[in-house]
Amino acid sequence: MKERSDRRDFLMKLGIGAGVAGLAGQAGASLRSLVPNVSYDAPTTVKLGLPGEFPDGLRFLPDQRLFVFREGNTFHAVSAVCTHLGCTVRAESLSQPETVSVGGSPLRVTHRFLCPCHGSRYSGDGTNVAGPAPRPLAWFRLSVAADDGQLVVDLADEVGRDFRLTVS
Ligand code: FES
Repeated sequence: MKERSDRRDFLMKLGIGAGVAGLAGQAGASLRSLVPNVSYDAPTTVKLGLPGEFPDGLRFLPDQRLFVFREGNTFHAVSAVCTHLGCTVRAESLSQPETVSVGGSPLRVTHRFLCPCHGSRYSGDGTNVAGPAPRPLAWFRLSVAADDGQLVVDLADEVGRDFRLTVS
């Protein structure tokens, strides 16, 4: 009789254990389904087009909030994101282009930048010169895609202001 009761206890405990394990497994699966398997982060590396498609001077790319400058075969890219609170700055043409030394390299400057939100101003190399902006505009690395020759910007790779990409 005792043996039968032990067996019943054992089977009951086994049943409860299995039920708890099943519920825990289901709860885990439900929670897991709330976490996506894919990353929705925007890619940091973006193809911008063939170098020859860029005009000499400046082109604004609104999707990347980026200014790409071309002088002959030489390119550089400056962020249009204000370093104060992130508004998009506007480029304003200078009446006369100037050549300035930036990071030890000459740079032909054709524009300056103004932020419409709180009035920050930046010189043509992105240096913050007035208003609440705490830092210069970022410069990003440009390269040429090996597969199709397009210009590529890496928006996660900030470079110094002596950076220039020369394409052949
Ligand atoms: S966001 Fe540009 S000055 Fe405030």
